[in-house]
Amino acid sequence: MGILRNKWIVSIDDYRRASRKHLPRMISDYLEGGALDEITMRANEEHFDALMLRQRSMVDVTGMDTSTTVLGRSLAMPLMVAPMGMLTIFHPGSDPAVARAAVRAGSIFIHSAWAGCSLEEVAKVAPNNLWAQVAFWKDPEETASYIKRARAVGVDTLVVAGDVGSSSKRERDLHHGLSMPPRPPVADYFNAATRPGWLWRWLTGRKMTYGNYAVNGRPLRMDEMNSWMASNKNPAATWDDFAKLRSEWSGNLVIKGIMDAEDAARAVDEGADGIFISNHGGRQFDAQPATIDVLPSIVEAVGGRAEIYLDGGVRRGHDIVKAVALGARAVLAGRPFAYALATGGEPAVDRAFGILREELKGAMGFVGKASVAELDKTVFANQSHSPVLNGVLL
Ligand SMILES: Cc1cc2nc3c(=O)[nH]c(=O)nc-3n(C[C@H](O)[C@H](O)[C@H](O)COP(=O)(O)O)c2cc1C
Repeated sequence: MGILRNKWIVSIDDYRRASRKHLPRMISDYLEGGALDEITMRANEEHFDALMLRQRSMVDVTGMDTSTTVLGRSLAMPLMVAPMGMLTIFHPGSDPAVARAAVRAGSIFIHSAWAGCSLEEVAKVAPNNLWAQVAFWKDPEETASYIKRARAVGVDTLVVAGDVGSSSKRERDLHHGLSMPPRPPVADYFNAATRPGWLWRWLTGRKMTYGNYAVNGRPLRMDEMNSWMASNKNPAATWDDFAKLRSEWSGNLVIKGIMDAEDAARAVDEGADGIFISNHGGRQFDAQPATIDVLPSIVEAVGGRAEIYLDGGVRRGHDIVKAVALGARAVLAGRPFAYALATGGEPAVDRAFGILREELKGAMGFVGKASVAELDKTVFANQSHSPVLNGVLL
């Protein structure tokens, strides 16, 4: 149904706007917003936009091949789903819906450590397209038991949450009283009443939980999460924890939240197989560069010893071209899939993948490259004035 109502949607930004019509303001602000003044969040998109590509003419691009591999696994295109907690708040289909769409799109779904659904539930629908995010909780037993569960469902790649030791302030959320559970001001109740579809799903759909963690054998309720987080959040996690995990986990290990070349080099020295450049979509720390800005220096520091992924601000197929051309193995998107999920559930997530795939093909054609392997710095227009890449392309 949702997909029929949203026939006019042709871009990720259309999904962003449409999701506002489906979600109460307090929820769409939670989804769209970022930390403090949202400077980093905006920079993620704007600095992609500031990079211009070089159109080539009369190049044979028949048989366009958007496929690639990540850590030896095939992807239909260099795009994966970034881990997102609490997808249930946007649509009750949540994690399994997005994971199924990722399977159909030949992609990978990263299950968040803060997910509303359990890892086991998602593993049932995406057994071969699933990576699991792991956090270093204060109680190492919590982390260890989660890794055991990941192993049990056949996950071969863990994604360490490397940017969650400190707390962020998302002011949009604070204005809405959005804590766990939400305690919104009266105005927000009225606003929620103008979104009957969401309200109906909220009241009748699956109950919102932190499905990854259990008390007395049942998933944590939202109202229990605050105290659970207070006792388990761990600002003391360091590279020692990473090294210990490396010695215990024989599968692939990726670290998310790397924004610095020295940290990237350290991660590789400690045995990381993948460096996941991310500023959490500008949702954590607001005084730092866009992810695309730090990509060149991280590529240089890593020197081909690990794969590099990047998220933050990917909204168009040509953003994928830009990141891959600068050395990323693949990119990830968060909000784009959540906008689609909130707007039209699972079919809309399929469509979001489709939109990005078509845009990617178009962009590859215009830059005259018929395969992902051919994407390199020659795709960029001469931009000696670029404020973004600090001369890296010159
Ligand atoms: C609603 C929402 C929830 C998120 N939850 C998590 C999470 O649980 N763990 C995590 O590492 N990142 C989380 N992120 C950040 C994403 O993994 C990703 O870094 C970010 O969304 C990328 O930016 P983009 O939204 O511009 O694509 C979340 C992002 C959003 C929008």
